[in-house]
Amino acid sequence: MKTANRLISLAKPARMLLIGAPGAGKGTQTERILNKFAGIGALSSGDILRRNISQKTQIGVQAESIIKSGKLVDDELIASVVKSELESKSWLNQKNSWILDGFPRTEGQAVLLHETLGPLNADLNMVIHLKVPEDIILERIENRYVHIPSGRVYNLTFNPPKVSGRDDITGEPLSKRPDDIPAVFKQRLDSFRDVTEPLLEFYDKRGVLKVVSGISSDIIYPQLEKLIAESFCQN
Ligand code: AP5
Ligand code: MG
Repeated sequence: MKTANRLISLAKPARMLLIGAPGAGKGTQTERILNKFAGIGALSSGDILRRNISQKTQIGVQAESIIKSGKLVDDELIASVVKSELESKSWLNQKNSWILDGFPRTEGQAVLLHETLGPLNADLNMVIHLKVPEDIILERIENRYVHIPSGRVYNLTFNPPKVSGRDDITGEPLSKRPDDIPAVFKQRLDSFRDVTEPLLEFYDKRGVLKVVSGISSDIIYPQLEKLIAESFCQN
């Protein structure tokens, strides 16, 4: 394990997926991993869709009402959007390391991703289930604010912005996500239970599933860091 600029280098490629209920901390933990390990990229399907909505692209127009209702966009649509992003970042190979946040979240999407990665011998090699109790999640969502262009996430109690209502890096205004209102959030939790939880078994059968659970970052993040270091930083 080598360190450079306090970042830890990987000894082998990591192709990871974070699975967790809405508000479990997928975005938050991804950011912490990127700040610790060198050479890992990240891609959040929700952030891509929100950027498309704010830029009023054709995909954004298709996705906007679905996201506002807390339902999932069509498997084929999200799979092709993520595939184009992976292509444009030149990540469709065996060498690159990356984290997918929020895709795949149905078995159909997992199969579509496998059809892309399998022929390259570049399938996901670690799927991490972030397991956080629902009462904790509901409390977090009330206090969440986001910077839509970058996907940076804040929480008024856990990680507040340096200047109230402004993104730390750009100084641009933060917003509330339209799908964070209670009725929509409930629908998102239901979708997770109905279609995403079964995906855990899909990856468990393939021998790549790990579970990390807890109620705070102090408990969750060290487990994640250890898992990544043990799996990818030693030859
Ligand atoms: P997406 O954006 O992926 O939303 P989600 O899965 O519902 O997850 P969130 O982003 O809400 O939560 P998170 O786990 O990232 O938590 P965060 O780090 O922000 O998807 C949105 C929508 O897009 C979907 O509903 C769907 O319509 C569509 N979509 C996206 N992908 C799709 C796909 N593959 N297929 C079909 N449709 C798709 O943390 C939450 C809050 O808690 C923050 O305020 C944070 O600061 C705080 N926090 C985090 N960790 C801690 C901690 N340890 N202690 C205290 N507070 C914490
Ligand atoms: Mg997120």
